[in-house]
Amino acid sequence: MSTASKTITEILNTMEYGPAPESTKEAQAWLEQRGRTFGLFIDNQWTEAGETFASTNPADGKELAQLTQATAEDVDRAVQAARRAQPAWAALGGHGRARIMYAIARLMQKHARLFAVLETLDNGKTIRETRDADLPLVARHFYHHAGWAQLLDEEFPGHRAVGVVGQIVPWNFPLLMLAWKIAPALAAGNTIVFKPAEFTPLTALLFADICVQAGVPAGVVNIVTGDGRTGEAIVKHEGIEKLAFTGSTEVGRLIREATAGSGKKLSLELGGKSPYIVFEDADIDAAVEGLVDSIWFNQGQVCCAGSRLLVQESVEPRFLKKLKSRMDTLRLGSPLDKSMDIGALVDPIQRQRIHGLVEAARAEGCEIYQPSACEIPAEGSWFPPTLITGASTSAAVAQAEIFGPVLVAMSFRTPAEAVQLANNTVYGLAACVWSENISLALDVAPQIKAGVVWINTANQFDAACGFGGYKESGYGREGGREGMFEYLVPVSEDARPALPAVAKPAQAKPATSSNDPFAIDRTAKLYIGGKQARPDGAYSRAIHGADGSFLGEIGEGNRKDIRNAVEAAHKAAGWTKATAHNRAQVLYYIAENLAARGQEFAGRIAAQTGAKNADKEVQAAIERLFYWAAWADKYDGAAHQPPMHGITVALNEAIGVIGIVCPNENPLLGFVSLVAPAIAVGNRVVVVPSEAHPLTATDLYQVFDTSDLPGGVVNIVTGSADELARTLASHGEIDAVWRHDGSAAGCAEVEKLSAASLKRTWTGGAKGRDWFSTQQAAGRTVLAHATQVKNIWIPYGV
Ligand code: NAI
Repeated sequence: MSTASKTITEILNTMEYGPAPESTKEAQAWLEQRGRTFGLFIDNQWTEAGETFASTNPADGKELAQLTQATAEDVDRAVQAARRAQPAWAALGGHGRARIMYAIARLMQKHARLFAVLETLDNGKTIRETRDADLPLVARHFYHHAGWAQLLDEEFPGHRAVGVVGQIVPWNFPLLMLAWKIAPALAAGNTIVFKPAEFTPLTALLFADICVQAGVPAGVVNIVTGDGRTGEAIVKHEGIEKLAFTGSTEVGRLIREATAGSGKKLSLELGGKSPYIVFEDADIDAAVEGLVDSIWFNQGQVCCAGSRLLVQESVEPRFLKKLKSRMDTLRLGSPLDKSMDIGALVDPIQRQRIHGLVEAARAEGCEIYQPSACEIPAEGSWFPPTLITGASTSAAVAQAEIFGPVLVAMSFRTPAEAVQLANNTVYGLAACVWSENISLALDVAPQIKAGVVWINTANQFDAACGFGGYKESGYGREGGREGMFEYLVPVSEDARPALPAVAKPAQAKPATSSNDPFAIDRTAKLYIGGKQARPDGAYSRAIHGADGSFLGEIGEGNRKDIRNAVEAAHKAAGWTKATAHNRAQVLYYIAENLAARGQEFAGRIAAQTGAKNADKEVQAAIERLFYWAAWADKYDGAAHQPPMHGITVALNEAIGVIGIVCPNENPLLGFVSLVAPAIAVGNRVVVVPSEAHPLTATDLYQVFDTSDLPGGVVNIVTGSADELARTLASHGEIDAVWRHDGSAAGCAEVEKLSAASLKRTWTGGAKGRDWFSTQQAAGRTVLAHATQVKNIWIPYGV
């Protein structure tokens, strides 16, 4: 056959790639210049190297450098340097910091090639990715956040820097994670103790040079190297006020437990098992190409990798056929070769782990596809692109984060089944939805419990768009406005008063009616699913007024009652889907009905607490209901315009079911100030009212019943705050717990127990809160606790 009669594809198929190696000269020279041995970067100085460990090139197993294993004393020195530097760094002001951050961004661009090569040497990812994805995103992150520094006073009024932050990152995107952590922290005026992963510390150390060149003052950025022990020393250090962690869910849990009760702010970006959903009307070729990016980018060592392919049954055979032939063309080999698609895994230990999971799937009868032509180099640590079919939904490969180039494929029939399979995971980091039907895609995206949804695209990131997870993928966001809040504290928090003493009733007097055999049982019941319910344990406790007189009895709720309440809350999912307008109407109606019985409530508050201003509290509670009704349809998200042809829509979504333990003071206003914002944005709640003064909450049942509040949206379980909080925090089906009753030990316990399912917490610790103050008890900070941001990427016209 002559060349003229061949199709272009035939010609392309016969063409060979020539080698296109990137030179490592500059990077090796930099390592040589440092004698291939590094100390720590503290106070803009390099310490002498201490006990060291090696960092190797995963592609050939050769040692690159020796790094210092930082001790607890080293970490302490870094924290002290950061503490000394923090006031001046904050005082430099937004513009001063913006100039330095701009200089960092410029220098990162100038030295991008050196950084890209060093990253590829240390991590094993392809130069194509470090050069074309990681480095441009790093520079963009510093530029964007230089902008936030500049605008800080205007855009974040009433906020201050947290102080000294500890940041711990993994090895999969060493420099990009550094940028995601350091840029917002600097912009907000914090100083930093940063730890890169032990496998990939080199670009962080090169970044230290950039800090010096850019004029970052001494002590503002400190970089300590080491393994988990160094990480632990950072986590436990009392001089650190916030921790930002990216890594495994397992270590994320340890960090949550270790910081419980410490008052440290915490953001966790953890693992994922993200679904990649392909509907039958998708552009199949584009979806195959997107999948290559989604699961084989960085050898699949990506927290948001699309590792679970869910493809509609009608197109499954066609899709898998195309996918396999695309897999056959993927090139695996030297990551420094510019024409390689797949580089080396970070370490042989990862290879072993991945191999173990794939072989277990094979033993279970799954079909494993790996391109036969894929040659594995003799040296280094590698794994071929792999497709697993025939796995059950509960198989380890379908549930565990493999963190390698391994895709597990399943099929579905209907959109509802796709959503159900997509959400069948403990994780919730990201998802892809492929369909040419925008109506279908936009209907599915909000139903997926994940922080990021990419429609007809994959693995898009931008500094302006928040990134972070739902469920066990962690909490907090990086990027965007919401990412900045992670590094700021409202100044109103500093003004919180000491805990008001809850007056113990004078000598309790016995109930006067107890001798009357015909007396009606006045025990206030629990309120579950819109109905009054007797407590499961059939116990009650007497409530006495401030003057000691018997006021009534309340049900002693227990674990079973909480379980029932949580079940009722889950059944009330329609509230989350109701329009914001509807939710606002219900809140206004509650306010109206409360106002109609204002005097009665004031009397009850006064009798319980002895307050002289009980009427003021009722009026404030009515106003607070109006306030949250007003917010219900105004806490809109944003439409970002990242550098892509399309938009990214940031939605503020309800968290789900929130357990709330109310303050003891202000039994009505405290209750309303927590419950109203939670339900205004679509959550359902299980509330433990003031333990000392619960009768105000039990009086609210009738108000709720007459205000069109659907059953199950607000469930009330009275009893011991400690015991009930414990049950709420340990319950797997509760998504967040708020505790504000002033019990420091109780708040610490809630935080500790929350680690098991990584539920969000909002705790008040030992301090009080002025519930009358809108600065302390209302505003966007509360709304942020009641919601989580989902970013939906919608490219168009392509
Ligand atoms: P890892 O979570 O152990 O390490 C991440 C970072 O945390 C590293 O800097 C490490 O030194 C530090 N660290 C470890 N133990 C610590 C502790 N007790 N306290 C404070 N810091 C600690 O992740 P690893 O072992 O590198 O990878 C294991 C698995 O974790 C992977 O196979 C993958 O499944 C998952 N992973 C997920 C990542 C993500 O981006 N979601 C990133 C890295 C790993």
